[in-house]
Amino acid sequence: MTRGDPVLEAARLLRGRTDAVALTGAGISVESGIPAFRGWQGLWGKYDPMEYATLGAFLRSPIKVWRMLSEMVALCGDAAPNAAHRGLAELEGMGILRAVITQNVDGLHQAAGARNVIEYHGNMEALVCIACWRRYPTRQRWVDGRAPTCDCGEILKPDVVLFGEPIPWLAQERAEEEARTCGVLLVIGTSAQVSPACDIPRVAKKAGATVVEINPEETALTRTVADLHVPGTATDAVRSILIALSGGEGTPR
Ligand code: OAD
Repeated sequence: MTRGDPVLEAARLLRGRTDAVALTGAGISVESGIPAFRGWQGLWGKYDPMEYATLGAFLRSPIKVWRMLSEMVALCGDAAPNAAHRGLAELEGMGILRAVITQNVDGLHQAAGARNVIEYHGNMEALVCIACWRRYPTRQRWVDGRAPTCDCGEILKPDVVLFGEPIPWLAQERAEEEARTCGVLLVIGTSAQVSPACDIPRVAKKAGATVVEINPEETALTRTVADLHVPGTATDAVRSILIALSGGEGTPR
């Protein structure tokens, strides 16, 4: 389905709906200054994820893995939500968007005012002890350049999903339910390469949803699962869709 201007088409698909859901990935936070994982500026270009982002690697050499994690904590701590995060919160406020499922751990959807956010890969706000399970706010324990430790002496792990860890069960259940029952799924800024998050668009599509992809690049979803591809950055696309929604079908961009 690609008829005319994809922004106007996306707005047409969203207008009057109360059951849209967004699935977001690292791309939505790029314009907040957090680089994506893949691609030339990506974190995985600098750190091999199999060496730095698996649970096994963390358990074997936590101090080494904390070098990469420290960078993520610092990036997330410095970032502020952008127009795409705020735009999704606005769509939620308008009653159009029911939930955001995010693979991001930066907390920027909530910072933008979104209320129903499902954090599929956890978040950077908390640190958990891998020995006694005690939890701490990250800002309380983290000092740049060091691996934070628990009062029991063990090294703390951020409450994010590393490769080899299961998705938190509640997040997985809620995300699946949203995917199965939404009318439109907005897929924003994800390369859709990491399972099981990359299955969410397929689940939604199979259950009858229209899948709208917002991404400056084509992905594995573009010509297979997506019904519509809006080929722009997240901020441009979401802003333009909101303008089109407020001004009617013929609103110039
Ligand atoms: P990726 O880095 O794989 O993909 C980012 C996507 O964002 C790419 O498709 C880009 O084209 C797109 N993009 C870049 N700039 C954009 C912009 N300004 N607006 C919109 N899109 C833009 O990130 P994810 O798909 O989120 O998991 O990666 C999924 C998971 O892989 C992450 O959650 C993380 C990582 O390993 C774990 O660590 C478990």
